Formats: sequence, C-alpha cells, structure tokens
Amino acid sequence: MKPAGSSRVGAGGRGGWKGGSDSGSGTKGGFGSRTRGFSSGGRGRGHGGSDSRDRGGGGVRRGGAAKNKNRRRKGIAVSVEPHRHEGVFIYRGAEDALVTLNMVPGISVYGEKRVTVIENGEKLEYRTWNPFRSKLAAAILGGVDHIHIKPKSKVLYLGAASGTTVSHVSDIIGPDGLVYAVEFSHRAGRDLVNVAKKRTNIIPVLEDARHPLKYRMLIGMVDVIFADVAQPDQSRIVALNAHTFLRNGGHFLISIKANCIDSTASAEAVFASEVRKLQQENLKPQEQLTLEPYERDHAVVVGVYRPLPKSSSK
Ligand SMILES: C[S@@+](CC[C@H](N)C(=O)[O-])C[C@H]1O[C@@H](n2cnc3c(N)ncnc32)[C@H](O)[C@@H]1O
Repeated sequence: MKPAGSSRVGAGGRGGWKGGSDSGSGTKGGFGSRTRGFSSGGRGRGHGGSDSRDRGGGGVRRGGAAKNKNRRRKGIAVSVEPHRHEGVFIYRGAEDALVTLNMVPGISVYGEKRVTVIENGEKLEYRTWNPFRSKLAAAILGGVDHIHIKPKSKVLYLGAASGTTVSHVSDIIGPDGLVYAVEFSHRAGRDLVNVAKKRTNIIPVLEDARHPLKYRMLIGMVDVIFADVAQPDQSRIVALNAHTFLRNGGHFLISIKANCIDSTASAEAVFASEVRKLQQENLKPQEQLTLEPYERDHAVVVGVYRPLPKSSSK
C-alpha cells in the first residue's frame, strides 16, 4: 500500500511519496511494519464487523472490547500508544488502528468499533478512526506534518455532515476545547445535533458557510479552520470564514476534491490553482498532501493565516 503523497507547498508539485513505513508515534504516517489494518483492500466491509457502515474496516476486527478480552486471556498484548499528533493514538492489537480517546465511553457515533484498554489501573475506551471515511484520518495516516488540532483547540469545522470526523475532533480537543460544526443540509444537520447532545464541546451551526455573518453571534475566534465542503468556491468560503473568525497566526486545513472544482483539468492543476486562490486571501499554504489510497484526486492543504512575526509566533 502506497502512503499518500506529501510535499511542502512551493517545492514543486505533489512531491515524493512519504510516510507510511514508520510507526505513527514520533514519526510520519502509517503504523509501521506490524500494520495489518486499513489494507489497500479499499472500502469493502470489515471482516465480521457488527455495523455495515464501518466501511473499509475499522482496523480492529470482530467484537471490539470482547475480542480484546479474549486476546488478553490468550496473552496477546494489546496496547494504545500516543501518535505524534497530540490527542491521536495508535491501537496495537490483532490489527493496528488509528484511534481517539472516546469522550463519551460506551457510545459509538457512526458504528465505529470501540476498544478498551487498562492503563495504570484505569479503563480507557478508544474509538477507531477510519481513513476511508475521514479525510483528516487519511491525512494523518498519509504523514501530514501538522494538524494544528490538539487538546483545548478552538476549531471551526466547515462541512460537518453527520459529525463523523467532527466526533473525532471532539475527542482530540477534549472537554476544554470547542468545535463549531457548520452544516447546511437539514438531514445531516439532524444527526449532527444528536451527536452534539452527548458531546458538550460540539456547537452545531446549521447554516450556509458562505454567509459567516449569519452565525457570527454563535462563534468566537478560533485557532483552526478545517474545511471539507466539497464546493467549487471552497477557497472563497474558507477565506470568508478566516477573515471573520480565524485569529492571526491561526491555521487552516482544507480538503480539496479536484473534480468538484473543475472536472476538465488535471487534479494537480486544480490543487495548484486553489493554492493560488488561498495565497491571495492571506492564507499561506505550508503543506500539501494527496489522500491516496483512501481518496482519489483529493488533496489536503495545510497552512497559516496572516502569519505572526517570527518572535511572537507560537
Ligand atoms: C464531503 S461532506 C463532509 C464530510 C465530513 N467532513 C466528514 O468527514 O464527516 C461535505 C459536507 O459539506 C456540506 N456543505 C457543502 N456546502 C456547504 C455550505 N456552503 N455550508 C455548509 N455546509 C456545506 C454538505 O452538505 C456535506 O454534508
């Protein structure tokens, strides 16, 4: 399985393939040579999973906590270790998986598997994070250098849908963080509101992200904007929201689906043109990553808004 391609913006095109071969803790993407989860088998059903929506396998097969109990009985070690992105973890078991610490133990959000481990006598529950269902997870497994979303972050998430990725962002930022989740589809919005009922750090905002002034009363300044609206004018949408809510020196992550923007141009040409649009809006791209093998012709661009002078930047 090839890891996603990544390059520093401006270093010329897509850059070489990187990441994927080392452990996620302390190094780039992937899980290391022990990895058996998230194989390039693609989006097919996980083996024996209890929920048909868990596409592509959650990386942990069959029976979540019960299976882990069996594994412990058989003496096979299961453990969770921190990923180099704070608030993200790697589950090491029969199949390794990207996981986040469940803010609401006992509850899955979208049918994802939960795994329990005992750490220092304390029972901790983690939720598996499927890169076939979340571009942020795909970017992390692809070896993105920075996600800027960490415990206590204030995040504005544009294109929240039913809250699949938002729920993992909620786990990462924890009870002292906040994620404002903007979604204009009523149907998806209903699910999102239900997710937010159990997760106090999610503020659902059922509005069109093209009109930030309509929801400015609900939202404070944020550290990070994450955008996944899959719209042709996505860069403009991000810029409007950044000018309204993103602090100077804050960061943005934008997922670009090439054929949503221009189905006649090559994906690389579309990514380059989006990068130029961002630059014109004081959004300085710093990193670009393609999301293969999880998504075709998608890229994530990560950057900084109105960078602070070197001495005052964090
Ligand atoms: C690709 S899906 C997002 C998936 C989601 N980020 C996840 O990982 O779970 C794009 C979502 O953006 C929403 N969307 C598109 N344009 C929007 C807009 N102008 N304002 C708010 N939401 C929008 C769509 O309704 C859709 O739910």
